[in-house]
Amino acid sequence: MKFFVDTADTAEIRDLAETGLLDGVTTNPSLVHKAGRDFLEVVKEIAAIVPGPVSAEVVALDHDGMMREAEILRKIADNVTIKVPLTIDGLKTCRQLTGDGTMVNVTLCFTANQALLAAKAGATFISPFVGRHDDIGFDGMQIISEIRQIYDNYDFATQILVASVRHPVHVLQSALIGADVMTAPPAVIRQLFKHPLTDRGIEGFLADWAKTGQKIG
Ligand code: E4P
Repeated sequence: MKFFVDTADTAEIRDLAETGLLDGVTTNPSLVHKAGRDFLEVVKEIAAIVPGPVSAEVVALDHDGMMREAEILRKIADNVTIKVPLTIDGLKTCRQLTGDGTMVNVTLCFTANQALLAAKAGATFISPFVGRHDDIGFDGMQIISEIRQIYDNYDFATQILVASVRHPVHVLQSALIGADVMTAPPAVIRQLFKHPLTDRGIEGFLADWAKTGQKIG
């Protein structure tokens, strides 16, 4: 499963990229607002840090407006992926952009039927939002299982990009279901490395090693 980080904070992206485990980046207008920087500049910087797909979202709601914005965004770098909302205009835009060889991430997906439409529109990625579903008392991961089954039934090439990930259990479930990608905030990615028994084990080994009086090298 590929790991994308969901942030527009370039310091965080740089730091996580050093682990060698980062396959891409997703941003959205709220994350750009949080970063407090010029959108085009920040996308350019991110695309230079991470060679994998970097999602940049259009804000126009009509097809022509989306295409105009996508033209500007896709010129920034080859790895810029245009993010469009799951609407009729969004899917029209998706079809046109992927037909031109541009990667498209269809966002704000909340049902398996919407994911089916995105796959038929040739989306590179579909982003079902699991956390926002959980927030309203629905099991968001159930949609991921349904999408996996539908895409496998028809051999759709669209990659399932699990979004709105809130905790490590979402990551585990995504991997068990066979999602292609998950995108999570930096803090959730850092949580994946941690286990108290790992920390306690290191402490114990180092204490015993010190008693040997030895050094490596
Ligand atoms: C995905 O691409 C979105 O940017 C993101 O995952 C939304 O997450 P949120 O529900 O935590 O805002």
